[in-house]
Amino acid sequence: MTQLPIPLAIPNLGEEEKERLERCITSSFVSYIGPFVTELEEMTAKACGARFGVATSSGTTGLHLALISMGVKKEELVLIPSLTFIATANAVKHCGADPILLDVDAESWTMDPICLDNFLKEEAYQKQGRIFHRQTNRRIAAIMPVYVLGLPANMDKIRDIAKPYGLSIVADGAAALGAKYKGRPIGDLADLTVFSFNGNKTVTAGGGGVVVGNDPDLMSQARHLSTTARLSGLEYIHDDIGYNYRMTNLQAAVGCAQMEKLERFVEKKRTINQIYDEAFSGIKGVGLFPKPRWADSACWMSGIVLENPSFPAVITLCQKLKGEGVEAKPFWRPVHMQRPYLKSIRSALHVTENLWSKIVTLPSSTQLTQAEQERVIGSAVKLLKEGNP
Ligand SMILES: Cc1ncc(COP(=O)(O)O)c(C=O)c1O
Repeated sequence: MTQLPIPLAIPNLGEEEKERLERCITSSFVSYIGPFVTELEEMTAKACGARFGVATSSGTTGLHLALISMGVKKEELVLIPSLTFIATANAVKHCGADPILLDVDAESWTMDPICLDNFLKEEAYQKQGRIFHRQTNRRIAAIMPVYVLGLPANMDKIRDIAKPYGLSIVADGAAALGAKYKGRPIGDLADLTVFSFNGNKTVTAGGGGVVVGNDPDLMSQARHLSTTARLSGLEYIHDDIGYNYRMTNLQAAVGCAQMEKLERFVEKKRTINQIYDEAFSGIKGVGLFPKPRWADSACWMSGIVLENPSFPAVITLCQKLKGEGVEAKPFWRPVHMQRPYLKSIRSALHVTENLWSKIVTLPSSTQLTQAEQERVIGSAVKLLKEGNP
């Protein structure tokens, strides 16, 4: 009997999603106004310990919305890590601003606070309470750390560094819903935090995002800009150039059903992570995904790091695993190596450059069975041993 391929990460949908979708369709509130949108905002904010949420059409539009709500403007600069999905950098560009690409630390794969500190001390100057990039005289408007793989960055340190410069912080927490930082939820570590509800995330709405935060003015500005900056009332009066960035009630219906399963799904993701760690920890030259002391990662994706140069290259390993019915993938090519960002301002990027091409992500769906995970491990161990005689 041929075995079905084991996917990398597929959504886990069931009767609850169907039931809510049906209610949504029956109500005919399928667009931007509807009770599920509000419910999803509240559920997301509550789950991450924030006061307010604003639902958006994607994580990317959520990031853009968060940045413009924080006041990031054309020609300004935003500090981000280079090791991220390209959407982080794109969101900065959508503001007409440019990213400054920083290194990550080897302990967590998230923005390195030392690199951030050094960059600001060496490459920036302060004037009238604002901070400017020395070489270009452009204002540095914000810092946007990324919670890589669902793992919160070292936020106490990043906040301490940002404070004297008055820099705002937007966290790209796309895959981090359900994570903890020093034992507490992550929704108030930054001024604004953005989650993605894309189909490959731990909980999904098919597509979508939620921006969370505690400041009522900031959050109502985000909501206002996301709804074409239309003033309340019968007439069509708009006081700004806003965006049509709202999530639909249809998407939110699915998202709400998923949110009820968040804890269970994150638990499962952590178990998958632990099983991979146990299976691969004895293998020479195989590194594990990071576990810094400050974070309980949401473990969005799990996998291994190929540290032994005699192992097959990540791409080769992924192709061979595919031949065995296992979907595995390389990790993000860093932003500074992507065509639109080849000339971006940057720090030294030693950790990023040494790391990114060695990372393999392995099947991490919440419905992965024990037998399937054993199959993944068996195939990967066999192929690695062939490359490491
Ligand atoms: C780190 C990071 N930022 C942003 C995004 C963008 O989210 P979306 O796909 O919902 O636009 C993703 C999505 O995968 C991501 O992983």
